[in-house]
Amino acid sequence: MINKASPVKPVAGQGGATRQPAWNPTTWRSLPIQQVPDYQDPAALAAVEARLSSYPPLVFAGEARKLKAELASVAAGEGFLLQGGDCAESFAEHHADNIRDFFRVFLQMAVVLTYAAAQPVVKVGRIAGQFAKPRSSPNEKQGDVELPAYRGDIVNDIAFTPEGRYPDPQRMEMAYRQSAATLNLLRAFAQGGYANLDYVHQWMLGFVKDSPQSHRYQTIADRITESLAFMRACGVSSDSVAQLRSTDLYTSHEALLLGYEQALTRVDSTSGDWYATSGHMLWVGDRTRQPDHAHVEFCRGVKNPLGLKCGPSLEPDGLIRLIDLLNPDNEPGRLTLIARFGADKVLEHLPRLIRAVEREGRTVVWSCDPMHGNTVSMNGYKTRPFDRILREVEGFFAVHRAEGTHAGGVHIEMTGKNVTECTGGARAITAEDLQDRYHSHCDPRLNAEQAIELAFLIAENLKKEREDRRRHAPAVAVG
Ligand code: PEP
Ligand code: CO
Repeated sequence: MINKASPVKPVAGQGGATRQPAWNPTTWRSLPIQQVPDYQDPAALAAVEARLSSYPPLVFAGEARKLKAELASVAAGEGFLLQGGDCAESFAEHHADNIRDFFRVFLQMAVVLTYAAAQPVVKVGRIAGQFAKPRSSPNEKQGDVELPAYRGDIVNDIAFTPEGRYPDPQRMEMAYRQSAATLNLLRAFAQGGYANLDYVHQWMLGFVKDSPQSHRYQTIADRITESLAFMRACGVSSDSVAQLRSTDLYTSHEALLLGYEQALTRVDSTSGDWYATSGHMLWVGDRTRQPDHAHVEFCRGVKNPLGLKCGPSLEPDGLIRLIDLLNPDNEPGRLTLIARFGADKVLEHLPRLIRAVEREGRTVVWSCDPMHGNTVSMNGYKTRPFDRILREVEGFFAVHRAEGTHAGGVHIEMTGKNVTECTGGARAITAEDLQDRYHSHCDPRLNAEQAIELAFLIAENLKKEREDRRRHAPAVAVG
């Protein structure tokens, strides 16, 4: 059980080779910090944070530990992490259909990957808490008017008006309640029968059915159905085996709005450890990963699995310093490094980081975010060419094959909807098409077809890795 928040008592460092300074959920407050909203009413902010700290946790510490154990297997080369969802969730698009369609596409991707890799796929949504956004500039200018930048629905509104852009702490409570409702539906889908493998054909969305990807998916789904029929004849079915009728879908978001995170950080009474209960996994963004700043300080003290975005400005020494802070005990599954260099940079930057991690004997999951290094502007829209996304993923796998390390996961921005936000893909979305269905509040997402197409490309690479491993496996003496 997770207790109600605090009396805030400092806990000793986590041990390991280098003793860490004491930590509690407030120690980040005395450090420099990036990307904070300019809240105008400190009393209102404090009141919201106090209320949030009395509300029930959204996730349970035991679930975060289970995810960490699954990620530990991925780090050991036995599995693949599929992480994805909206760039930014929005209050306006909080519909059951959106959640369901995301869930369906995610399940389809997972099936494609599990089938190819013959290994478990750990499913982690950017969902049920992914509201706060880092921005490259604190203000936005349109014509002669300059207003605070949009920082995600948990902070302010996308509407370019003074009222809209006013950072309103009350929004944190709305984000909390939306996260709770989203998580509730996801749990129902995951455990209540929707994810039953007997329905593998029905997860296909209407508009994907006539797409070029549909035939490939159909082929896999047919094979799974055949295997299930065979197993049923042997007495094994979804009635008797929970893994065939349900799944685990974990939640994650960027730990950016630290007042919100602090309010939902609680002591787990079974272990006595602190857990962020706003989501199962948190990550540190590329703009807030300064080792002596607030975001790293906050994240080092919670026991959840963590992600760390690794962009082109991260040098090998800087990475090792961050690993020392975020995973001083070298606990497997604790840390996922999310490489987001861009298609043109991955071959140059990734090997250096992998070599440093290997040299220092650190256990991590390597994941590829092929979105954030490949954003370009076309016809006034922020977009991402699908071929660049594929190229970064290919590069990521090629580097890992060359280094003999495991390409452990992918981190993407995607939706189950038929949007036109990233150009290219099998339907060759053009710069002119972007205006048709560009719905993202923030960065451009893969639509359902593009997401499934990407899953097939990853599947091919996972198969190659599997074959390589088989070829290099030591011969087993028989007799
Ligand atoms: C994100 O994942 O939405 C994001 C802002 O990424 P990064 O920190 O890698 O730029
Ligand atoms: Co984004």
